[in-house]
Amino acid sequence: MPLVSMRQLLDEAAKGGYGVGAFNVNDMEQIQAIMGAAKETNSPVIIQASRGARSFAQDRYLFHLILAAAELNPEIPIAMHQDHGNSFETCKSAIELGYTSVMMDGSLKEDGKTPASFEENVAVTKKVVDFAHARGVTVEGEIGVLGGVEDGHGAGGTGLEHVTDPDQAVEFAELTGVDALAIAIGTSHGAYKFSKKPDGSVLKMDVLIAIHKRLPKTHLVMHGSSSVPKDLQDVINQYGGKLKETWGVPVEEIQLGIRNGVRKINVDTDNRLAMTGAIRKVLWTQPEKFDPRDYLKPAREAMQKVVAQRMTQFGQAGHAGDYQAVSIAEIAKGYKDGSLSTKPLVAR
Ligand code: 13P
Repeated sequence: MPLVSMRQLLDEAAKGGYGVGAFNVNDMEQIQAIMGAAKETNSPVIIQASRGARSFAQDRYLFHLILAAAELNPEIPIAMHQDHGNSFETCKSAIELGYTSVMMDGSLKEDGKTPASFEENVAVTKKVVDFAHARGVTVEGEIGVLGGVEDGHGAGGTGLEHVTDPDQAVEFAELTGVDALAIAIGTSHGAYKFSKKPDGSVLKMDVLIAIHKRLPKTHLVMHGSSSVPKDLQDVINQYGGKLKETWGVPVEEIQLGIRNGVRKINVDTDNRLAMTGAIRKVLWTQPEKFDPRDYLKPAREAMQKVVAQRMTQFGQAGHAGDYQAVSIAEIAKGYKDGSLSTKPLVAR
């Protein structure tokens, strides 16, 4: 199957009432781990690359690795997504390269750190939507500001400083015509999200539910959704790591989100933890080893295990064969003729 539009993937997820994990990649082993998990669980999948990943791996390497994933797994729908584009230019370059989806994160200014005004966010996001939809490419926007920093991108903080205002979410969706909307509900990127198991006072699921009630047809996106499981932390610390005690987003809260309009769930940190733990274990217990395959193979297996578990928990498992890919050219026509209208259905 060729790379598919993320819009098609999320529309199908909405019909089926499940969520789709969007997993970050920087290298071949991570892409193979995701595809191994998708094959094992028969799941559609979103593979995403941040600006940091694109510069680490170099665009052409990463792009061709993902094309190889599509070529080798024709039965799996794969959307290729730019994570946290900081400007029109970043999104344009991803689209020109062949990404089928982009995130324009206009919640921050182009420096990727300073919160932008609502008007600035609307203007740059709308510009990306016009460019992307004419080419059949999906757009995710962000309203409210997430906490933490990932690959140098982020405002920092706990994620509670700029929780999304439901009225603004409605206005933003109407003014920009995004296909998917990332909202800030107290999650943050990275391993250090919460200093205790999060309850209703730190994770604003009530805000998410309020936004879904107002925008029942808009695909919501949860960023910073790693669960940071204790067993993965323990492996790292057991073999010489120094992680401080920390909590992530409980899977039950993500599942509550999925029941309330969340269709895309971003996960990066859990996979980083899994790989690092596996590598540490080999290097710590078998210090005589020096062939990278001796630690990259267990690292890839550890990541595949986490991804397969998330695919099952998010409900995407078993859905890879539900539909045929619609070509990006057909998707572009759909935006033009209004059959893929992004005018949100608003409940006032
Ligand atoms: P985590 O750091 O929680 O994995 O979040 C990743 C993310 O949201 C990527 O955009």
